[in-house]
This record gives sequence, structure tokens and C-alpha cells, in this order.
Amino acid sequence: MNRYAGRVVVVTGAARGIGAGTAQRFADEGARVAVLDLDESAASATAQGLGAEKAVGLACDVSDAAAVERAVFAVVEELGSIDVLVNNAGITRDNLLFKMSEDDWDLVMNVHLKGAFLMSREAQKHMVPAKYGKILNLSSVSALGNRGQANYSAAKMGVQGFTRSLALELGPFGINVNAIAPGFIVTEMTDATAVRLKMEPEELRRLNAEANPVRRVGAPEDIAAAAAFLCSDEASYITGQTLYVDGGAKV
Ligand code: NAI
Repeated sequence: MNRYAGRVVVVTGAARGIGAGTAQRFADEGARVAVLDLDESAASATAQGLGAEKAVGLACDVSDAAAVERAVFAVVEELGSIDVLVNNAGITRDNLLFKMSEDDWDLVMNVHLKGAFLMSREAQKHMVPAKYGKILNLSSVSALGNRGQANYSAAKMGVQGFTRSLALELGPFGINVNAIAPGFIVTEMTDATAVRLKMEPEELRRLNAEANPVRRVGAPEDIAAAAAFLCSDEASYITGQTLYVDGGAKV
């Protein structure tokens, strides 16, 4: 499929993990892709590896308004427009409530919620005049509550409310806004969770696969496939939704 020929796609936190897998899928479907991440060399390395018609890697801390402004400006300069924004950048600072620091709380809110807000606000400046755009936000099954993740689950449920509000505001301008809530996806983020739980990553994956209705854990490609559908014109009557891509695990 070549659904993204002529489109410019920006994926935040795309140097690795789900973001990199998603950037790859859009590149495979013909998009010009901007890979944004904290570290410029990591972002550029991923961008170069996509084999896209055109790709750039840019340093951007999504929680920093000035950095976001610079990065979106650079994307439009180098790739010509911004048609699709995937707000994927994320971190965890897990702890039980009584041990959770103010920094743990603020960092998680700033990356997930403020980051999605700043990036979307900047991107819509280009999407609204074009009367075209797709914004996709990464929520999580943890939005439904997860022990040790009060900060992260609050942010990820916040992402769902943010998604619905943007869908209402931006729909009249031809912009669709949706969210994906992944279940357990094998990335460095879930490997770090294993370390916190004092387990080998393979052991945590095995336990999650056993407990999952489809008896496997997810891969970045599972999220990328859903992202490529939700941001396509085939999904133009879908907006304000959160799609759980979790093998049915939340049921
Ligand atoms: P990851 O840790 O492998 O990758 C996250 C990327 O975001 C890294 O490259 C990191 O440098 C970047 N990043 C962090 N802070 C940033 C900032 N301030 N500005 C720009 N980039 C920043 O994580 P993974 O697993 O790929 O997660 C991607 C998204 O999916 C996150 O929003 C995460 O919360 C969400 N998610 C992941 C799940 C999983 O099982 N892996 C499950 C549910 C949601």
C-alpha cells in the first residue's frame, strides 16, 4: 500500500521502540517522515535507516515549547508540510504513591500531556489552513489503572480526554484526532519495567503472553499497523476514539 505518498508524517519519540516501528510503517507506505527525539544523533540514525523517500531526524524535547516550535518549523522547512502527527514520546517513573516524588509526577505529566499539547498546538497551525490533518496520541491500557503507575495512568487517561477535545475542536477543519492504547509491547520501556519488578525481560514477556487472550505480547509493528489505518483517509469518519491494541488483555 502507498497510502502516504506525498504526505509528511511526524513521529515524536521515534528514535526507538513503538515510535521507530511506526515511523518505519509510514515510510514503507510512501510518507516523508520526521523522526523527533531527545537525542539528535539517535533520531538521525533511525531516520536514515527508514529507507524513506525523504526523512529527517531532529532533536526535540516535546515538553519544551521553544524546542517544539523550532522542530515543527524545521519539519515544514525541510519536508514541506505536516499532515500527520503521532504523539508517541513517553517515559515512565513508576513508584507506589507513598514513594512517588513530585519530580516523578511532573516529568511524566510534562512528557505525555504537555508534550502532546505543545506538539498538537504547533502542528495545527499548519493543518488548519491546509484543511487537512491527522493527530494520533499514544495512550495505554494503564489508563485503566495500574499499581505503581499513578502518574503514568493519570497521564494516559488524560491523553484520552485530550484526544476527544481536540477531535471536537479540529473536526470542522478536516483534522481527525484519535488515540491508540497499547497493551504490553516489547520495547526498552517494558524491559525497564522488568528490571523494576526484579525480573528478566523474557520472564515478564512470558507472563504477559500467558495472561493475554491471544497468548502473545505485542510488537511495535502491531501499533504501527493500527496507526497507519487510523491516520489514513480510509478512517476519515473516525475521530475522537481510543483504540485498544492489546490482544484483548484489558478485558
Ligand atoms: P521507549 O522508551 O522504547 O521509547 C520512547 C522514546 O521516547 C525514546 O526514544 C525516548 O528518548 C523518547 N522520549 C522520551 N522523552 C522524550 C521527550 N521529552 N521528548 C522527545 N522524545 C522523548 O518506549 P515505547 O515502549 O516505545 O513507548 C512509546 C509510547 O507508547 C509511549 O508514549 C508509551 O507510554 C506508550 N506505550 C507503550 C507501551 C509498551 O508496552 N511499550 C504500552 C502502552 C503505551
